[in-house]
Amino acid sequence: MEVKTSLLDNMIGVGDMVLLEPLSEDSFLENLKNRFDHNEIYTYIGSVVISMNPYRSLPIYTPDKVEEYRNRNFYELSPHIYALADEAYRSLRDQDKDQCILITGESGAGKTEASKLVMSYVAAVCGRGQEVNKVKEQLLQSNPVLEAFGNAKTVRNDNSSRFGKYMDIEFDFKGDPLGGVISNYLLEKSRVVKQPRGERNFHVFYQLLSGASDDTLKKLKLDRDFSKYNYLSLDSAAVNGLDDAANFRTVRNAMQIVGFMEDEVQSVLELVAAVLKLGNIEFKPESRCNGSDESRIKDKNDLKEMCELLGTEQSVLERAFSYRTVEAKMEKVSTTLNVAQAYYARDALAKNLYSRLFSWLVTRINESIKAQAKTRHKVMGVLDIYGFEIFEDNSFEQFIINYCNEKLQQIFIELTLREEQEEYIREGIEWTNIEYFNNAVICDLIENNQNGILAMLDEECLRPGTVTDETFLDKLNTICAEHQHFESRLSKNSKFLTDHSLPHNCFRIQHYAGKVLYRVEGFVDKNNDLLYRDLSQAMFKANHSLIKQLFPEGNPTKVNLKRPPTAGSQFRASVGTLMRNLQTKNPNYIRCIKPNDKKASHIFTDSLVRHQLRYLGLMENVRVRRAGYAFRQPYEPCLERYKMLCKKTWPHWRGPAREGVEVLMADLQVPAEEFSYGRSKIFIRNPRTLFSLEERRRQCLQDLATLIQKIYRGWKCRRQFLLLKKSQIVVAAWYRRYAQQKKYQQIKSATTVVQSYTRGWQARKLLRELKHQKKCEEAVTTIAAFWHGTQARRELRKLKEEARRKHAVAVIWAYWQGLKVRREYRKFFRANAGKKIYDFTIQRIMQKYFLGLKSSMPSMSPVDKNWPARPYRFLDGVHSELRRIFHLWRCKKYRGQFTEEKKAVYEEKLEASEIFKDKKALYASSVSQPFKGDYVEISKNPKYQKLNSAVVEKVLLADVVNKINRANGKGTARIFLLTKKSVVLADQKTGQVKASVPLPDLSSVSVSTQSDGFFALRLKEGSASAVKGDFLLSSEHLIEIITKLHRIGTTAADRDQINIDISDEFLVQFKQDKVCVKFIQGAPKNGNSVSCKRKNNRLLEVSVPTTA
Ligand SMILES: Nc1ncnc2c1ncn2[C@@H]1O[C@H](COP(=O)(O)OP(=O)(O)OP(=O)(O)O)[C@@H](O)[C@H]1O
Ligand SMILES: [Mg+2]
Repeated sequence: MEVKTSLLDNMIGVGDMVLLEPLSEDSFLENLKNRFDHNEIYTYIGSVVISMNPYRSLPIYTPDKVEEYRNRNFYELSPHIYALADEAYRSLRDQDKDQCILITGESGAGKTEASKLVMSYVAAVCGRGQEVNKVKEQLLQSNPVLEAFGNAKTVRNDNSSRFGKYMDIEFDFKGDPLGGVISNYLLEKSRVVKQPRGERNFHVFYQLLSGASDDTLKKLKLDRDFSKYNYLSLDSAAVNGLDDAANFRTVRNAMQIVGFMEDEVQSVLELVAAVLKLGNIEFKPESRCNGSDESRIKDKNDLKEMCELLGTEQSVLERAFSYRTVEAKMEKVSTTLNVAQAYYARDALAKNLYSRLFSWLVTRINESIKAQAKTRHKVMGVLDIYGFEIFEDNSFEQFIINYCNEKLQQIFIELTLREEQEEYIREGIEWTNIEYFNNAVICDLIENNQNGILAMLDEECLRPGTVTDETFLDKLNTICAEHQHFESRLSKNSKFLTDHSLPHNCFRIQHYAGKVLYRVEGFVDKNNDLLYRDLSQAMFKANHSLIKQLFPEGNPTKVNLKRPPTAGSQFRASVGTLMRNLQTKNPNYIRCIKPNDKKASHIFTDSLVRHQLRYLGLMENVRVRRAGYAFRQPYEPCLERYKMLCKKTWPHWRGPAREGVEVLMADLQVPAEEFSYGRSKIFIRNPRTLFSLEERRRQCLQDLATLIQKIYRGWKCRRQFLLLKKSQIVVAAWYRRYAQQKKYQQIKSATTVVQSYTRGWQARKLLRELKHQKKCEEAVTTIAAFWHGTQARRELRKLKEEARRKHAVAVIWAYWQGLKVRREYRKFFRANAGKKIYDFTIQRIMQKYFLGLKSSMPSMSPVDKNWPARPYRFLDGVHSELRRIFHLWRCKKYRGQFTEEKKAVYEEKLEASEIFKDKKALYASSVSQPFKGDYVEISKNPKYQKLNSAVVEKVLLADVVNKINRANGKGTARIFLLTKKSVVLADQKTGQVKASVPLPDLSSVSVSTQSDGFFALRLKEGSASAVKGDFLLSSEHLIEIITKLHRIGTTAADRDQINIDISDEFLVQFKQDKVCVKFIQGAPKNGNSVSCKRKNNRLLEVSVPTTA
């Protein structure tokens, strides 16, 4: 449910000054102060928002606040700038009324901040979308750019706007922003060349020097040190809480978002730098022969750098600072400038450069933010113009600024009154005239076309002859002397003759906001705003994209001899346009008030605020608002708020709201003169009446609260009771159910027990009966069976007897018949039948034998020893022959699978078996070892490369053997190579050939019968190899070596077969000696290894371990 609130809820003081009671300046001030102390910086006067500058950030601008105020009625919540922004935006969107937000107040009162708050609120609540967001962002980001170039620190405000700004934000029919147009008013350009004490030049100069990178500064020929520049005031260059460097980055970023190109930004910065350089140009006098003084530039370095930045020719500019050309009636006269004139020209150029740059920036931003769609737009204008200013020393600028504020005040008065009047007419209420101060008379003093101050100034500026500020003041003294708001010492009005607060060179105007003393010095010059044509032409010639545009009057082809309009008249014209523009729109006012002069939070200076509320005419505003009726409210919310005060309207009123309010007022007996009924609103004349209504409402609310509380408590107790009752019933029901259930269970189980006993008894009884019955039946059956058995056996015996007799008869008959037949056929049978029966029987037996053999054949493995048993002894021979044939056949099949290599291997193995089987004990262990041939891999081993190349033939066997030393029987490792032609022994480590024995030189080989690997190579006596004697060697592959040696002998046709001598004792020829090698079964001490020992000169004993 939506909570209906009102401005009247939780008020600190009064939120709307119209309700102030009693209304006096003091109570007004007191109320403001009270609210300010409670951080309530906003207060209403009807629909006008008074904003006090808090000088600190308050948590009242959060997105939550935006949501709170969104789409709420103006008086629904406590006063806030968002309420005004929301009201303006909604009536623009929903009622199609163009709006303007007029923000006024003196310098530092918070106008610029207020305008930004309004814009940010509108941006937050209006439509969304990529394009819309871009527009919003551009509109919002135009602020930092303009503030950098147009704001400066003054004694009153660290971020004082030194230009007037009016921004039209354009929306489409849905209320989405489309774009905007910014108008700027009179930049205070004198600040560029001179700043009052305690003030600064425009922010951008300081931002550039603090924030730009070294590289940028170098490009701009600038130095970071402020003190290097004459145009920058040093005493207040650094401002507390202002980070120029960071702001510079913000501004550059904002320029980028707004749509400035990189080269445009660069051009802008070049111009800013050029202004700074310009300030550093100094002049010195130089006497001429005619006695007059001519100015010369002291140090041309700055001029040179400036010309480089602007792309102008140095000589052109130098000349423009020394001469002035006046053109009149097709005649050109050139006069020299003295030093003062040169400085004047320099400063005029600087001011013009800067102010034109500023105007260009505004135009450029407008180009970016301009609405694209050409449809009709709804417009919300936000005016943030410089506030009313009273300085110690007020000049032309203050005069212009204050004039603008006069105009705004006037439009405020006019529109407020008009609005009030319109509302009364709209609501059909009689209008009563209201007395107020109308400042139209002051506006007239300034802007009157005939005798207004601006017109006088223009006249003076255009007049031929000597024109000075004094002549201007004289003129004012004569023409405006009688005016009640004009004061001057020398005027004809004698009452000021002795007024010493009025110096002779000043005049004073009684503005609506107070008296301001203006010093006339500079009025004429500033109004003329003269820039020597030589300078504008020099600027036009510059080779710089931006400068050329800024000085179009310097174009020599378009020389215009007419004077340009004066600054005053330009301003008056633009203010006129602005006022006309504002009058077409629905105004919304924000009146900013500055609480103190110290820019400090929490300080409320009574006198200062009192002064502002006086000149802002706030009291009058309240009076105007209250003159008729102090308070008004549409009927619906009024009835909603006070309906509880009358029984007829409480709690619901079914009829129209107005009638409800009428009933209510009648019931409450509010005097008829205290209120009036409008068409849609009720108007309450006196705040007192409203407050008494409020008081009654408060009282009633308390009563209502008590009533609600009472009813609620009753309801709560009853609910509690009913709940308890209901619970009790439930509990009782459950308990009863439980008790019955338990009882039932007991009965049920008892019944079951009784039932089971009964059933048991019945069953046992039945069982007994059945058993007895069964026994009887069994007895009968047994008796019957016995009887039938007896019967059957008797019958069987009878039948058997009968059958035996029949069989005996048949046998006797058969025998008798057989006997008869045999007797009869004996003579034929004996001759043939015996042989046939025999053959048949034999044939049958053989057939059965072969078929049986076929089905029980053994496997094809040659080692399978199985063979089926023979069935008859007479088949013995056939059976063993068939077994042999089958074995041979399957061996043949098995051999048929062999490859050539495998065949060779088996042949070798076969040969080994032929040589050694049952002859040497070592043989048995060699059977399972394959013959590898090459155990050394001499061809792969790089160590034996030499050996490999020394042996020409294919190596059949390569192994490491031990060559037994004949002296001690110890072995030395040798590589043993066997080829088809020779046996080679080589060193194992080096591969060097130690001996090579051609096979023909080999007579025999001796080996023992035992399991050792010793073998002796016996050489033929007389052969070449025999010189060194026989070789006694030992090898693990003895069987393979000897077999291979033997095979070579058998396969080679040209060679004798090598004899293999197998015995445990043989002779070996060592050089001259013959030594006997004897093999004995080894003693256990030898362990498992074979040992060889020299026993004596003639005996070498080899002990071989006993084989198990
Ligand atoms: N609502 C606010 N909340 C917090 N601080 C504020 C608020 N309004 C103003 N200020 C502070 O006051 C300073 C001056 O405000 P602002 O620049 O808006 O004044 P101004 O009325 O525009 O003055 P001028 O006429 O010189 O431009 C701001 O810089 C800010 O510090
Ligand atoms: Mg401002």
